[in-house]
Amino acid sequence: MRLTTALRLILLAATAHAKVASEWLQTNHKEGDPPPSGKVDNDQLVILSGSDNVSRGSDAVNEPQPSSCPTIMIGTAEPDGDMDDGWKELPTVAGFDLTRLVVDDDANATLPYFLENTKDFSNIKRAVITIPGKARNSWQSANDMRNALVCAAGRESVNADMDAVLIAAPQWLSDKDVDAGAGASSDVWFDNSSYQQGAAAIGPGDVSISAYEAMDMLVNTFWNKDVYPALETVVVASHSLGAQMTQRYAMLRTPQPQDSNLSFGIMNPGSYAWPVSDRPDTDDSCENSYNSWPYGLDDNDTDAFPSYVTDALRNRSAIRERFFSKTIFYGYGLDDHGDGDTHCEAQWQGSTHLGRGRNFVDMLGDLEGGFPGLQEVEYVEGVAHEEYLMFVSEAVQRRIFLFDETAGGTGNSTNSTGSDGDGDGDGDSDGSDDGDDNGSAHQYVHMPGVLFGSLLVSVVAGLYA
Ligand SMILES: *[C@@H]1O[C@H](CO)[C@@H](O)[C@H](O)[C@H]1NC(C)=O
Ligand SMILES: *[C@@H]1O[C@H](CO)[C@@H](O)[C@H](O)[C@H]1NC(C)=O
Ligand SMILES: *[C@@H]1O[C@H](CO)[C@@H](O)[C@H](O)[C@H]1NC(C)=O
Ligand SMILES: *[C@@H]1O[C@H](CO)[C@@H](O)[C@H](O)[C@H]1NC(C)=O
Ligand SMILES: *[C@@H]1O[C@H](CO)[C@@H](O)[C@H](O)[C@H]1NC(C)=O
Ligand SMILES: *[C@@H]1O[C@H](CO)[C@@H](O)[C@H](O)[C@H]1NC(C)=O
Ligand SMILES: *[C@@H]1O[C@H](CO)[C@@H](O)[C@H](O)[C@H]1NC(C)=O
Ligand SMILES: *[C@@H]1O[C@H](CO)[C@@H](O)[C@H](O)[C@H]1NC(C)=O
Ligand SMILES: *[C@@H]1O[C@H](CO)[C@@H](O)[C@H](O)[C@H]1NC(C)=O
Repeated sequence: MRLTTALRLILLAATAHAKVASEWLQTNHKEGDPPPSGKVDNDQLVILSGSDNVSRGSDAVNEPQPSSCPTIMIGTAEPDGDMDDGWKELPTVAGFDLTRLVVDDDANATLPYFLENTKDFSNIKRAVITIPGKARNSWQSANDMRNALVCAAGRESVNADMDAVLIAAPQWLSDKDVDAGAGASSDVWFDNSSYQQGAAAIGPGDVSISAYEAMDMLVNTFWNKDVYPALETVVVASHSLGAQMTQRYAMLRTPQPQDSNLSFGIMNPGSYAWPVSDRPDTDDSCENSYNSWPYGLDDNDTDAFPSYVTDALRNRSAIRERFFSKTIFYGYGLDDHGDGDTHCEAQWQGSTHLGRGRNFVDMLGDLEGGFPGLQEVEYVEGVAHEEYLMFVSEAVQRRIFLFDETAGGTGNSTNSTGSDGDGDGDGDSDGSDDGDDNGSAHQYVHMPGVLFGSLLVSVVAGLYA
């Protein structure tokens, strides 16, 4: 779609406050138009908010554009296949390239990822990497994050600079996807969703790189000053199973020079790697494993961690300290009462997404050193286990897209300012697992919302993962 130059100028003048080109505004589109980045298929057409017409209110996977976004939403691509029997292809995504990063030189093994292709790399100040949920649909997460960025640029109250932010989404293929036909023969693949806990690839050939090493390499592509001379920060921000991976990666990531310019967004994860040994709940059936990786940092099991964690780094206290010193925001949908991870080990952490989240926040607040100084929490009203609605919430947009608000900002809900931030938090410095330490540092309070959530859980079970 082309606007006349005169019309463009008028629109530009009218929207001079917003850092979004007029072609992204709803006022310049009809539903069903091709997106500004060009038409790639019949799913990825422009969606407008509001719905006097149902097909105009949401896309083919039933995602709506909230009426608070003045910008268009691009519909989600719908490739052949499904998460259970495997994806048969990786689709083309409007405004993105499907790029491949060589993660094993000898074998020429590659990690596929979607990367925005409409921007001038020399202007990019921030890369946002988002990891999909258990459906392994990175095309959808990439698109959700891009739509959220466009909305953040068009919204006066956020006014993000969309030309300075570049979105990427790695595609973690499972064995089923490979059988079903998705990906290239060089692409690394994993046993089901084991990549989220840092497991090694099981192919192609003998390739056995850890998913976390592949993450390191992907993050590092953005620190290449020849390609991104203006880059300052990388944000890894994800929802659901992607948030589980983000939290666990943040916990185990090998220390690297740019760590202070790397931050994390963890939204509605199904479960956590719990940094301390105490738990808010119990469950008889997994007393010996509730604190083992990927649910905790068990001190007894020397093989618990993925091989990514080198011996020199297997010091539990040091791992905890590193985690508490990271810049992280936690985002919780206040209606997310889904079960999440149904394993016994996850039940020790709480019974729902939101319940576990509140317990995790309580645990952080009870650390001896106080709530980690560079971490904070955003509760999002009216949102359940919905990736896009989390991404487009204003609080989350500010954390992900604004350059001066990423770390320890004013976002409320916990006492996240005023702690010392030295990360020596846990009062459990020998890392022992005996759980008989002074309980005052580890009191967990069940919020009414958690109890309420438990009542609802039987109703919504099966909808959420
Ligand atoms: C509803 O939207 C569809 C898709 O954009 C369009 O084809 C149809 O004409 C619209 N119907 C009405 C009543 O506006
Ligand atoms: C490595 O894999 C990529 C992606 O499949 C392919 O394009 C390239 O030709 C391969 N390179 C070599 C040296 O085999
Ligand atoms: C694969 O992983 C998903 C997400 O963690 C889980 O729900 C499912 O049970 C797993 N399937 C198998 C066969 O392990
Ligand atoms: C890290 O970020 C700060 C400001 O946010 C910037 O001054 C610095 O250059 C960045 N470091 C790198 C390695 O990009
Ligand atoms: C770890 O070892 C200690 C001492 O042997 C033991 O008391 C504790 O129960 C063990 N923890 C687990 C989770 O097995
Ligand atoms: C483990 O790390 C902690 C905190 O960094 C440090 O005080 C302790 O000396 C380390 N222990 C070993 C055995 O290296
Ligand atoms: C944060 O919330 C608490 C309790 O809800 C409230 O007392 C406090 O004033 C709020 N702080 C900010 C900065 O909004
Ligand atoms: C944070 O909480 C701690 C312990 O509850 C308290 O001592 C401290 O004053 C609080 N800080 C702020 C800024 O509210
Ligand atoms: C627990 O620790 C706190 C401070 O960390 C201390 O004031 C309190 O006396 C301790 N209680 C017990 C029972 O050891």
